[in-house]
Amino acid sequence: MKKTAVYPGTFDPVTNGHIDIIKRGIKIFNKIIVAVMFHPKKSTLFSLEERIFMLEHSLKGLKNIKIEPFDELLVDFVKKKNAQVVIRGVRAISDFDYEFQMALMNRQLANDIETIFMIPNGIYSYLSSSLVKEIAQYGGNIDTLVPMFIKNQLQRKFKL
Ligand code: COA
Repeated sequence: MKKTAVYPGTFDPVTNGHIDIIKRGIKIFNKIIVAVMFHPKKSTLFSLEERIFMLEHSLKGLKNIKIEPFDELLVDFVKKKNAQVVIRGVRAISDFDYEFQMALMNRQLANDIETIFMIPNGIYSYLSSSLVKEIAQYGGNIDTLVPMFIKNQLQRKFKL
């Protein structure tokens, strides 16, 4: 039985690694809600609106994907959306400690929500939004790491 899954993150900005997970996930679930965290205290390079806009642009054409902001406990958002599953991407074993802790804490908060770990294509296993921002800031080549539109947005932000 296919279900609704929530794929949460900061997406500052979305990368090809995130898109890869979403494309894999939609083969398994009926619907994926990409939940974009609004951190009132954590400073992000892109505003919430910009991060959502970049996701919308990058996921254009993909069916059964919704992009929504959230600024509450993840499990509360998942329940509100009548979803049953949280998707998290695990790129390398170093991600695992943090992900394991978060999944178990979420289970403690809401026992009926399951976390599913998905593995992106190996070529994205060393990719992160911070690294993309750093490389872009110094004019490095990020062509294989993010869609062209995101590259342009980064260049605009860094006035390159
Ligand atoms: N490809 C490329 N990069 C990936 C990736 C993938 N498949 N999966 C994760 N990443 C990167 C992200 O780009 C990000 O990189 P950065 O740190 O350089 O910016 C990093 O991994 C961490 O990623 P992200 O997926 O954005 O997660 P997060 O740690 O920012 O988000 C939340 C965590 C939002 C899911 C979590 O804080 C949360 O649930 N908050 C809500 C409040 C709550 O419920 N708290 C209790 C939790 S128990």
